[in-house]
Amino acid sequence: AVDISNLRAETGFITLDPGYANTGSCLSAITYMDGEKGILRYRGIPVEQLAEKATFKETAYLLINGRLPNREQLTRFSVMLNDNSLVHEDLKTFYQNFPRASHPMGILSAMVNALRSFYPELGTLEEEITITMTRLLAKVRTMAAMSYKISRGHRVVYPRPDLTYCENFLNMMFDTPVRPYEINRAAVNALRVFWILHADHEQNCSTSAVRMVGSARVNLYAAISSGIAALWGPLHGGANQAVIEMLTTIQNEGGNYHKAIERAKDKNDPFRLMGFGHRIYKTYDPRAKIMKKMCDELLDSLQIDDPLLDIAKELEEVAVKDPYFVDHNLYPNIDFYSGIVLRAIGIPTNMFTVMFAIGRLPGWIAQWKESMDDPKWKISRPRQIYVGEREYDFVPIHARP
Ligand code: ACO
Repeated sequence: AVDISNLRAETGFITLDPGYANTGSCLSAITYMDGEKGILRYRGIPVEQLAEKATFKETAYLLINGRLPNREQLTRFSVMLNDNSLVHEDLKTFYQNFPRASHPMGILSAMVNALRSFYPELGTLEEEITITMTRLLAKVRTMAAMSYKISRGHRVVYPRPDLTYCENFLNMMFDTPVRPYEINRAAVNALRVFWILHADHEQNCSTSAVRMVGSARVNLYAAISSGIAALWGPLHGGANQAVIEMLTTIQNEGGNYHKAIERAKDKNDPFRLMGFGHRIYKTYDPRAKIMKKMCDELLDSLQIDDPLLDIAKELEEVAVKDPYFVDHNLYPNIDFYSGIVLRAIGIPTNMFTVMFAIGRLPGWIAQWKESMDDPKWKISRPRQIYVGEREYDFVPIHARP
């Protein structure tokens, strides 16, 4: 451990706050969270109400523009999304040249950054912002499905203007010349809820990345690309994939989830219970409550019996009563049940975090836009406390030990 008691004179007064747990980075009017009570609201509206009544498109509009759209605004927004939903055909070549084993999140981050080359800067900043936001919302969904099709060696399916945002995605993913995709209401609804629950979560790691990178005034594609990279991490968006991998390991080892719980409690073991714990929620994540309920309904409606759901429920029941988890305020977060929902819809495990990214896109855009409009904007530039060597002289190579 470094003794920092004598450093004040050299550094001036600097707040050291690892992980920024107690540091506010901005004023924001987008998302309200109360981690003690388990409350989440987008622009003032409880997430439970949005999950029950809103479309994903309405939610995206709400986050970005601050108000739910009226009929005319929603129609205009839908037309713009449809008009921008195709991607440049040359992008296919990029996809084809990634090694087969590439992770879809790495590909998505690179491809979103590459979009700037295909869609160069427009006239005014206003135009640039509106068109780029729309392009991203419309194209990232197409790109994700395209990436899946190409990875399977299948013909790419194009977006259709007669389908809703969620239907379109599922159609692009699962329609094939030999088996046309039949719209399944339960799957479409589950995807809608999944995306709404992921749409924003104030200053989480990936959103902070978007804001921080954006603060250098890079273009929106580059800022979103950095958000996708941050989301990839298993402690953040990558947790939905990690949960399924953990539950599968438990299943393969005969369903003994007690071992996982014991390992998570062992301070000499780096293992953590994936899908448990949250920086802000010290109670049950409100999104996880909705996701768990929806998971039951979806599996029921699709008549799927997923043994991973049984393991997850049993594990949760034991873990939330365990003194270690109680003392540490560790409850299921959104990722604990979301992977089971995605599996039931037919999404491959390595695309789970991509699904999260599509859902989070409106939040990233809204947060970036808010930072662009902030009159008190400053480039992000945290300080540090230097704990390295004091000054010493360069040593020529022949004299080094
Ligand atoms: N399993 C076991 N112990 C845990 C877990 C877990 N899942 N999460 C936290 N802890 C323990 C830590 O070991 C630490 O214990 P200690 O105080 O005795 O040393 C204490 O709880 C606090 O943990 P921190 O890592 O300091 O909490 P932080 O707020 O920094 O991290 C995080 C939050 C990253 C979500 C953490 O709970 C975790 O790693 N969870 C598992 C990964 C996961 O599910 N991530 C998804 C989060 S939701 C999202 O990003 C969409």
